[in-house]
Parts: sequence; structure tokens; C-alpha cells
Amino acid sequence: MNAPTRIKSALSVRGQFPAIEGWHYLDSAATAQKPQPVIDAMITAYARDYATVHRGVYQRSSEMTGRYEAARAAAAKLIVGQTDELVFTRGATEAINLLARQMPKDGRNRVLLSALEHHSNIVPWQLAGYDVDVCPLTADCRIDLDAAEAMLTDEHRFVAFAHVSNVLGSILDAARAAGIAHAEGAMLLLDGCQAVPRLPVDVAELGCDFYAFSGHKLYGPTGIGCLWGRAKLLERMPPWQGGGAMIDSVRFEGSTYLPAPQRFEAGTPHIVGGIGLHAAIDWVQTLGLDAIHAHEATLVAECRAALQAVGGVTLYGPEDSAGIVSFNVDGVHAHDTATILDDAGVAVRAGHHCAQPLMELLGVPATARASFAAHSDSSDIEALVRGIEQVKRIFG
Ligand code: ALA
Repeated sequence: MNAPTRIKSALSVRGQFPAIEGWHYLDSAATAQKPQPVIDAMITAYARDYATVHRGVYQRSSEMTGRYEAARAAAAKLIVGQTDELVFTRGATEAINLLARQMPKDGRNRVLLSALEHHSNIVPWQLAGYDVDVCPLTADCRIDLDAAEAMLTDEHRFVAFAHVSNVLGSILDAARAAGIAHAEGAMLLLDGCQAVPRLPVDVAELGCDFYAFSGHKLYGPTGIGCLWGRAKLLERMPPWQGGGAMIDSVRFEGSTYLPAPQRFEAGTPHIVGGIGLHAAIDWVQTLGLDAIHAHEATLVAECRAALQAVGGVTLYGPEDSAGIVSFNVDGVHAHDTATILDDAGVAVRAGHHCAQPLMELLGVPATARASFAAHSDSSDIEALVRGIEQVKRIFG
């Protein structure tokens, strides 16, 4: 094998992640490990500051409410949205379900998805009764926006695309997608789960109408995610879950509801989740999403070159994928590859990555996927390559 050029990582934050000591964690696209400031913020919130939000008249509750609402403001600001346009959900999956179910269809019953979507951007639309059209991919595995333009009609209510593919790392030209959707009077939802931890996102610049992302892929906790939507559009959506915190007044004859975003947030929320998410947002913003993106781009280039140099490895997705490299060792099932890598102290995801239609399109049952984060460095790629050489030795 030719030794790949070793590209030194520009970020050195590995020491801030206690859970990856001695381990090559290349599964950040599934869930990100947590830096110490996020862990500390959540411990402090439970151990020192804990109280309910939006309900207590005592001081600690009012302070906790302030912290929780500051998290909402930070999440909105991260994507350059307005605070009252940011709905907290349990995750991106719930965010997309909320949108698919609650936005009135106004007589338009079609949604345009793409062939690379995650199941959580397919199944909610099916459950909400939409007729699904599927935009194909270009030869280099990007969403084919020429095809999208040709496919859209005035029957389409939504175009719903991944901003960054969770399998291939392909980055969408979101501004063009927005123009295409709007030209037919459709709305654009971007699934931003894999984009928000890796790219600077500005919803106004992208021109989308809705943007969904999860906290746990952004170095924050599980159980909290966000649906950002234009205020005028959120206003059109009725509440979906009833309970405390979302009402204006309740009578047995009928109830009235708060405006968005509270209208969509029934029940006691994930208070400490919000605080952890805020800490995570502060953490990525201190590093800078431009810097994280550049760092991961360097690692992707290094990883692709190294895997090509090993030989007998098929790579999927574009050269300039964002932080994600999917591959198969020729003739070896991805699960076998991942098991041998695990023995070598390298964690990758193997399987269909919640994107079965994409696997069908690629003509494989599964891929192995290495995904990077701010803490990743060349030592992870070197360990991956050693593991793959071992896979090749074992499988001949
Ligand atoms: N969407 C997550 C992944 O790609 C779970 O692994």
C-alpha cells in the first residue's frame, strides 16, 4: 500500500471528550460524543439548578425557565432564525412527523423526496397520507435538482430533502432547491441532522421554509431536537399533542391554545436537554462551524485517499462529502467489516443506515460508514486502515 499523505488535524479537542479515550470513534453521524462542557452543564443543571420551567413562581424555577428559553434562543441563532420560530421536539424525527401531520395540505397531496433520504424523512410523509415522488441522484450521488425541477407540479405541497446525506455526506444545493420548490408553490423542508454539526447554516440564505435537526448529533443530549419554521407557516399548523404548557385556556366546552412555538410543546419539556443543547451550541460556535467543516473536509480527503490506497475497497458518495465516508471492502459484508474493525478498537456503523431505498439504488445490502467529528484526527484513519488490512487478510 502507498502511504497516504498524512494531513495534520487543525483542531485539537480530543482531550475534551472523556468517553473516547483509547478508542477510535468514527460513528459521529449516528450520535456525537459529548465534550466535557456539555457534560458539566447537564450535571450542574441536575445537581445545583434543577427546577421546573414555565410553571413555578419561585425564583429557582424562574431562573430555570430563563435558562431553558435561552437554549431556544441559542438554537434559533445557530441557524440564523428567530427565537419564536424554533419548536423544541424530542428529535428531528419528531420534528418531521409534526410538520408532515400538522401542516394543512390545502388540496396538495404530493411530496417530493429524494432517493437518499433517511427513513425519518420518508415514513412520516407516508403516515400523513402524502403521495410520494422520488427525485433521483446524479452520477456522483447528489440530489439531482434538474430532475427535481422537471418533476415538481402544483400538486406538490412539500419538497423534503436532506441538507447533508447521512450515508454519503452529499451536500445539497439548498438555495437552488428552495427556488425550485417555491416556483411551484411548494414548501421546502431540509433535514439538517447531518448538516448542523458540520456546516454553518443560515436558513434565510438557504431559503428553506422548515429546518429540522437533532441535539445529539450536535454534541448535545438525546431527547431534544428542533423544528424551525417561518412564523407565518407555523401559525397555520394546529397543535398535535394536548396537555399542559400549550394552552391559553381550558374549559370542558373547548380549549384555546398558545401561539407557536409553545402550542406544539405539551407537557414538561426536556429541561436539562435544552441546557445541554445550549452548551453544545456554545461549544461548536466557539470552535467555529467553518473550522469544523474545514477539519472534517481534510479528514474525508485523507480517509478516501487512504482507503483507495489500500485497494479492494469501494467508496460511495462524492469526493467532497461532508464528514462522512461510506465504503465496502469488496466481497465482504459490511457487518463483518465492522466487527473486525471493532476488534481493532475502531467504531464504524454498518448496515442500511436507515436508508433502505438508497441501499437498493447502490445495489448493496449495506455499507460500512466512517463519520468524523471535531475530535477526529489522522490517528483514527490510520487505525481504520490497519483494521481494513486485517479484514482483507481474514477474508483473503
Ligand atoms: N441517522 C443516524 C445515522 O445515520 C441514526 O446513523
